[in-house]
Amino acid sequence: MAMEPIVHTIFEPKTCSWQYVVACPKEKEAAIIDPVLDFQPSLFRITTESADALIDCALSHGYTVKMLLETHAHGDHLSASYYIQQTLWSRGQPHAQICIGENITVVQAYVSHKYRIPKEEIDDAFNHLFQSDEVFSLGDVRCTALHLPGHTPDHMGYQIGSNVFTGDTMFHPDIGSGRCDFPGGDARKLFRSMKRLLELPPETKLYTGHDYPPSNESTARQATPYVTVGEQQQNNKHVKDSTEGAFVQWRNARDEVMPEPELVHQAMQVNVRGGKMPRKSHHGKAYMLYLIEVPSTLIC
Ligand SMILES: [Fe+2]
Repeated sequence: MAMEPIVHTIFEPKTCSWQYVVACPKEKEAAIIDPVLDFQPSLFRITTESADALIDCALSHGYTVKMLLETHAHGDHLSASYYIQQTLWSRGQPHAQICIGENITVVQAYVSHKYRIPKEEIDDAFNHLFQSDEVFSLGDVRCTALHLPGHTPDHMGYQIGSNVFTGDTMFHPDIGSGRCDFPGGDARKLFRSMKRLLELPPETKLYTGHDYPPSNESTARQATPYVTVGEQQQNNKHVKDSTEGAFVQWRNARDEVMPEPELVHQAMQVNVRGGKMPRKSHHGKAYMLYLIEVPSTLIC
């Protein structure tokens, strides 16, 4: 029988992000999936409490962290992958590989142009780019990287044993699906990616990248890391009874009126660098661009 991993689930409440430490119970090799840096935009301050908790989880269980797996270049939080890689290295662990899907190059091209990021700051941002259906392992646990485009063009899911870490491809049944209006996003591709997940065996656990539990009294629930394929097939409000055409029309109309994520400018500039900050200026500070829309009469 195939070996199943141990899955540790850690919720980051400010950005409602689920982070995961996944390990082989025998060999103790581990991956950390979608780790978050704590960012307070009003104070222009980044701290590492959430990332340190992931490191503590891995080290206290005796794991060797082999990989830092990004499902995609997130638009709503800053990645802690580089911080965790460097911290674990300084504590005597091997150099964990920061990994993402090969279509990150599409996102990097767009973002580096928009925010004037020098080529040399993104060229080696990631240690490994996954192709679709690429097989890898954590100890004795078999893993497959699944290309799941739609939310973003680079989006991957990671199938680890009988679990799939789906990022923002599919949210829980009462929330449905993620937006598709980031550069290269595509509602039709998202629908097909969701259908691909729903073709997996019904007992497969689908771990989400975010949960936004409703808080009103009649529907309140706790943030939940996963539901099964079977539960999604029966209850996902955006796909259970929808055709591809109807979903695409609804998703595009919805995305047109969605506000942009609060941290999108900072997140994109850090995340296409694999979690590294922009190079320090001659002041010894790291600067990011913040783009604003202004009346044309104010532009000189
Ligand atoms: Fe996302």
